[in-house]
Amino acid sequence: RWCCSMNKHKVHVNGIDMVYEEYGHSNERAIVLLHGFCGSSLYWHKVCPQLSKHYRVILPNLRGHGGTEVPDGVYTMETMADDILGLIDLLGLDKTVIFGHSMGGYVALAFADKYSHRLSGFGLIHSTALPDTPVVKAKRLQDIEDIKRDGIHEYVEKMTERLFVESTREEIPDEVHRIKSVGKVMQPEGAIHALEGMRIRKDRSAVLYEANFPVLLVAGSEDHVISPDEAFGVNEGHVPRSTFNYPHISENTFEGIAHMSLVEVPEQLARLMANYLRTLHERETLRIL
Ligand code: MLT
Repeated sequence: RWCCSMNKHKVHVNGIDMVYEEYGHSNERAIVLLHGFCGSSLYWHKVCPQLSKHYRVILPNLRGHGGTEVPDGVYTMETMADDILGLIDLLGLDKTVIFGHSMGGYVALAFADKYSHRLSGFGLIHSTALPDTPVVKAKRLQDIEDIKRDGIHEYVEKMTERLFVESTREEIPDEVHRIKSVGKVMQPEGAIHALEGMRIRKDRSAVLYEANFPVLLVAGSEDHVISPDEAFGVNEGHVPRSTFNYPHISENTFEGIAHMSLVEVPEQLARLMANYLRTLHERETLRIL
């Protein structure tokens, strides 16, 4: 393990060099925040200050992203979950709470599927437990072709437009620019391997509704990448797709917000996350008593 700067670290886990950031005090409870596709730990920078007052906040960069190694091969959600396990093992953390934005949420679900004993809770921020539909699967292949043909710069420029509502693009142009810049510096292979991995990800509805702790779900009413219907939807046995009400799942929709509440309304999102964490801890305390 070696340090790059005050908060940035580089470690070797699960066979790759991973860059992560860390904030808050190491004696506090740890939470892990996972960014989405073509993102990086920077995605969480507006949410982090509020949370790091009370938590040790770990911000990993997933393989192919944000300075973490860009190995060959499909980046399955399971492999990326193994990378995160490697990191939290190295940090000596027993149980954590993982919040994942979009693709980071798919990784959080894969982690919960494989290593539920290492979690005391998880939150999906603009993400879904449902797999890709045939239409989205075809679009992933088209995206791969687009990246190969046009390059990552042009692909990210177009792709990120869809992440925000128009008014946000006008109101916080610097933030939108910052988000675009994160994706544009990616190595194209990293984006391609992540697309391949998302395309073949499993249906993890059961992980969501069978979780034995509270789960936080956050959606945006104007999200055109993952709609509230998808964010809260599960396939339940013979019922193909439904938004069932499970008491342990808290569903939250930000009105007028698209895919990026973490930069569109970061204070509100941080408050939701902090409230959820408080609920988790109260529950743990009750258990101990
Ligand atoms: C993301 O923001 O991580 C991606 O848009 C998710 C996806 O394409 O399914």
